[in-house]
Amino acid sequence: MRLIVAKNYEEMSQRAADLIAAQVLQEEDSVLGLATGGSPVGTYDCLAEMYREGRLDFSKVTSVNLDEYEGMTHDNPQSYWYFMNEHFYSRVNIRPENTHVPDGADPDPEHACRAYDRIIEEVGGIDLQLLGIGPDGHIGFNEPADAFAVGTHLVTLEQSTIEANRRFFEKEEDVPRSAVTMGIGSIMRARRIVLVANGENKQDPVLASFFGPVTPKMPASILQLHPNCTVVLDEAAAAKIRDRI
Ligand code: F6R
Repeated sequence: MRLIVAKNYEEMSQRAADLIAAQVLQEEDSVLGLATGGSPVGTYDCLAEMYREGRLDFSKVTSVNLDEYEGMTHDNPQSYWYFMNEHFYSRVNIRPENTHVPDGADPDPEHACRAYDRIIEEVGGIDLQLLGIGPDGHIGFNEPADAFAVGTHLVTLEQSTIEANRRFFEKEEDVPRSAVTMGIGSIMRARRIVLVANGENKQDPVLASFFGPVTPKMPASILQLHPNCTVVLDEAAAAKIRDRI
């Protein structure tokens, strides 16, 4: 595992975007696994800027997102599809038919999960997976559990995740309680992983995940076993590991 400590959010975002750009420049038909949330917004800004300047071409790229809230349709501004469209799809030349987000609105979540696993398989797996990390160490919405979940599955969100996501909603009651998420198995099969984390509230999960035991109680800890994982932190998120690197 490679750890990069950037000065601030902007530098963290640029470093992550550079790694994604290198992937796309090397393989124009790359499959990118993408994340939502506050952490990767700056990364998408940098990628959109590189596209605008004519330095990147996404026309042959495929994307598969990590997760979607249960019951959310694409036109819902709180949906992760909407987020992706706003921050990334609409700003670059990725083809709409090449973008994939789990179908949180499928009345049969089990069907949606199996369909999503098929999509990941059909596109040939993920070349580079971008991740954030939750305050409880979740990646995607793989919450702390007794075992690592392999494939796409429906999860009940932890109270700490609901509280962390509260900032995107008007009232706490509006925050969805469940989501469809890619499994740890699919994430770990990605050929390359880039995780971004910024801010003080990521200090504890960063310390526990990358310097503690590998355990499903701290889902991101599994990344210690990945052969090609780069963690890009800002100084605040790295504060508790500074003396260990
Ligand atoms: C989002 C996702 C989550 C977030 C995590 C951190 O698609 O899968 O794991 O990456 O909750 O969220 P932020 O970046 O908002 O702190």
